[in-house]
Amino acid sequence: MDRFVVTGGAPLRGTLPVSGSKNAALPILAAALLVEGRSEIRNVPDLKDVHTLLTVLRTLGAQARFENNTVWVDATNITSTVAPYELVKTMRASIYVLGPLLARFGEAKVSLPGGCAWGPRPVDLHIKAMEALGAEVTVEHGYILAHGRPLKGGTFFSEVSSVGATGNLMMAAVLAEGRTVIENAAREPDIEGLAEFLVKCGARITGHGTSRVEIEGVSKLSEQTFAVMPDRIEAATFLAAGAVTGSTLKITGARADHMRAVMNKMEEAGVHLMVQGDDIVVSSPNRLNAISVTTAPYPGFPTDMQAQMIAVLSLAHGQSTVTDTVYFDRWTHVPELQRMGADVRVDRNVAVIRGVRKLTGAQVMATDLRASAALILAALWADGESVISRVYHVDRGYESIEKKLQAVGAQIRREREP
Ligand code: EPZ
Repeated sequence: MDRFVVTGGAPLRGTLPVSGSKNAALPILAAALLVEGRSEIRNVPDLKDVHTLLTVLRTLGAQARFENNTVWVDATNITSTVAPYELVKTMRASIYVLGPLLARFGEAKVSLPGGCAWGPRPVDLHIKAMEALGAEVTVEHGYILAHGRPLKGGTFFSEVSSVGATGNLMMAAVLAEGRTVIENAAREPDIEGLAEFLVKCGARITGHGTSRVEIEGVSKLSEQTFAVMPDRIEAATFLAAGAVTGSTLKITGARADHMRAVMNKMEEAGVHLMVQGDDIVVSSPNRLNAISVTTAPYPGFPTDMQAQMIAVLSLAHGQSTVTDTVYFDRWTHVPELQRMGADVRVDRNVAVIRGVRKLTGAQVMATDLRASAALILAALWADGESVISRVYHVDRGYESIEKKLQAVGAQIRREREP
């Protein structure tokens, strides 16, 4: 296992390039299963989670190749409709193969993903979504078993706005007979990007990006090439790096229009942001002021920036609150930040942060992807040296983050855990 050794206090300067979006790429790669032929997907980030999904696709019989951030998937000959536990347990998003397999083959056997670092991750909405298309779904021995051919369009009201369930239902519905309506659909750009890929392949989808999506089933999809959008969470994490170190940085290749909620909250805390086309210049005063943040489904403040925001606000002047309404127990980063001197108390799903003048470097442990990012941010400005262990969590969702940060002057290096 690797660890990061970070020496805090180095002001950063320069340019941070944004990679393709992990959460937009994963459903699109799964959607390639719907195409009886080759799909070429560009601007795919070189991440552990991407390679895990490519392994799942190969397990199903597809050919998949990753080279220079481009993925070629040939799903002509699928030989299995079983996504095994050994793979799905390592990455929850593997459940995205459920909809495509069911749509194309009338059956799918997908392992339940199990929990993650911060608690249970239910899939009840995915199951109800498949049933809305007439599929028979049971859960046996830790697997979701789904059957249904042909799938028939239907209406699905998602009692909770779910990125994954919206994506799975969209992928199942594009080959179903008739019309499907998704009410309270996820509006995340990742799902909008999935719809844009499917439409380019010949699917008939309208309303994507809004909470009401309509899909008219078609008989087959055609081979296409498609470019994945920039990663809005990586870009927002880089804004946080500028904010926490009081630096001026240029974030290049970003979609500021996907980041409004985070940018508004950063500006409320006193961060200066300037959008220049696909670039965002972040600069910040020496000390930010305290604010209150509440996460919500898009276009609200993303839960995937909750941990990073706590790291930023741990140095702000005054008392801030961060409330997570999407995941009530996503706080594993808090005890680690406390080791660095952050004054954070969590009560149910609300974190109260009393800003301190300085954090101190410490040995800390990464527990999940975004918690790792929060620890890196805190370590960049903490007094002295921090050692962040288990950085395989970071490698799941941030492409070469230490190289990108080194290029703007951060004292961060990767080394093998002894
Ligand atoms: C996606 O996960 C993202 N992952 C997560 O990012 C992100 O935190 C999450 O959306 C919320 O924005 C990918 O896109 C690969 P949900 P997903 O279904 O689809 C509840 C990261 O850091 N729910 O939108 O699994 C669920 O418990 C990852 O990149 C059900 O109750 O999230 C949560 O409270 C972490 N039943 C809420 O809905 C279900 O069947 C939103 O979850 C499904 C979800």
